[in-house]
Amino acid sequence: MEHVRQHPDRRLVLQSAMAAVVAMMGPVGYAGTSRPPLGFTAVPASLRDAVVVPPEYEYHVLYRWGDPTGIGSSLPAFRPDASNTADDQALQAGMHHDGMHFFPLGSDGRRALLVLNHEYTDEHQLHADGAAPLTAAKVRKSQHAVGVSVIEIERLPSGWRQVLPSGYARRIHARTPMHIAGPAAGSALLQTAADPSGREVLGTLANCAMGVTPWGTYLTCEENFHGYFGADKSRGGTSDAAARRYGTTPGGQWVDWYRFDESFDVLKHPNESHRFGWVVEIDPMDPASTPIKRTALGRKCTESATCTLTRDGRVAVYMGDDARFEFIYKFVSRDRVRPGGYAANRDLLDHGTLYAARFDASGQGAWLELTNGDNGHADQAEVLVHARLGASARGATPMDRPEWVAIHPRTAEVFVSLTNNSQRGAPGRPAVDAANPRASNLGGHIMRWTEAGADAAATTFTWSHFVLAGDPAVPGTDARYPSPQADAFGAPDGLHFDSAGLLWIQTDMSGQAIGKGTYANLGNNALLCADLATGSIKRFLTGPNGSEITGCVVTPDRSTLFVNIQHPGETSDSGGARANSAWPDGSEPGSARPRSAIVAVRRRNGGAVGT
Ligand code: FEO
Ligand code: CA
Ligand code: CA
Repeated sequence: MEHVRQHPDRRLVLQSAMAAVVAMMGPVGYAGTSRPPLGFTAVPASLRDAVVVPPEYEYHVLYRWGDPTGIGSSLPAFRPDASNTADDQALQAGMHHDGMHFFPLGSDGRRALLVLNHEYTDEHQLHADGAAPLTAAKVRKSQHAVGVSVIEIERLPSGWRQVLPSGYARRIHARTPMHIAGPAAGSALLQTAADPSGREVLGTLANCAMGVTPWGTYLTCEENFHGYFGADKSRGGTSDAAARRYGTTPGGQWVDWYRFDESFDVLKHPNESHRFGWVVEIDPMDPASTPIKRTALGRKCTESATCTLTRDGRVAVYMGDDARFEFIYKFVSRDRVRPGGYAANRDLLDHGTLYAARFDASGQGAWLELTNGDNGHADQAEVLVHARLGASARGATPMDRPEWVAIHPRTAEVFVSLTNNSQRGAPGRPAVDAANPRASNLGGHIMRWTEAGADAAATTFTWSHFVLAGDPAVPGTDARYPSPQADAFGAPDGLHFDSAGLLWIQTDMSGQAIGKGTYANLGNNALLCADLATGSIKRFLTGPNGSEITGCVVTPDRSTLFVNIQHPGETSDSGGARANSAWPDGSEPGSARPRSAIVAVRRRNGGAVGT
């Protein structure tokens, strides 16, 4: 343990040295001449069933689960008893809002699109009679409640409101036709009875974090796709090592879609699950466009696809794989980004190199190229479909559940959240290492690195820890924050840099763990704001009971912060049969069905958020 504890200390020194180097380079990280302090009044940790923001701020709710998306003239109203049909659901907000981005329309700052993911469903709340018995109609409604929404919003004196209807409005879900592109498209591993071409697939699901390309498209990431694929456990296991590694095995499913939709039956259609776990590119400006799964970026429980440019103008995409002891990935395109928007860059994500990260104890790191021959795979399609196996063979570092990646808008420094890993150091599991320095890591941590030459194309980097999260007051937590005044938090998940370089951190302690054990003093999940220059971290927003906070995006002018409240009321991983929240419609649990929603936050005096 002593050996382990030395590492964070050294890294904090490295981090300070890096800060000194950055300081010598001049005022970086902030728009304008004066650096805005975190001037807001931090909110206390809270177990209230409410959204709480600083007193200088106000918020309003928009686009709750079940609200009309605004498609054509079909605006089915939400029925509070959840009796909306599957057809209604395809025209309404999905459940469990997650990653989100703000796309301005025009240049006058008055209209925009919000594009957001719907990660999964709470089957207890989704259906009028609850989760059981499962029926074909319920499976179809569930399939329509995941995926992506595109909504149009306009700025009024009272704040941003949804435009209904809108020519841009769109729902993409688990039944939306899409293409498969890149090196694995058409390969034998992607061919199914329904699609012998291996190039056309129905739907996207498990849409968690996201990315935005330099040419203005939205990337939605398929995270826990394995939870939708399965079969009756009594029908046996599988000898397929890849299926076991990815969890696509009989009995491994989280929902039993396979009972009414056989494409999700891993015994009948084993290749179908190979067609999920990808990054999917969507053109939000063209509601008739076909989403495209980009296989060059590798298949995994993909969490985030954060884009930046290399020094020579190519695109680099950073990705986490959110499972215990999985890896961090980077894709670098072969070709340069061309002017001309999506039309000029339609195949840019189809050609390039995929890497996985190795974090060395020296504080250096390396990007390991995944190529033919890894793990005995003869062709690149196999390497990409089974990316985890190739990354293991290459010696990538198994991480404590890598989630979101965010890139500082001025320094290009890269940050990643490692949400937690209760099994680090357990018998038969990987021990602590320099990058993942705590056994039974319930607090989670945030790491940072700088690519060699500050070039995203580099194959080496220098890394350190930004935060070892958790409650410092709990003995044995060994939490480390960049300043003594920092507000504590647990299980960091979403990360977002605003245009001024403030880092917004969203937390996801699991519903059944909130307010208990090591998390007892941390309250409900929260949104925090970090000022890298001072190391100050302040709690900005706390969420309702059972919810996680995710999908944060600040408008480019910093006048509004949008953030998603996901799964209010959730008391277990399978949802909330007895939800402990009625947010946002009810006053106390049981008085209304809890609904995920977007919250729009602004400063009452019109100032920049975070100040
Ligand atoms: Fe969907 Fe890893 O959070
Ligand atoms: Ca997440
Ligand atoms: Ca999470």
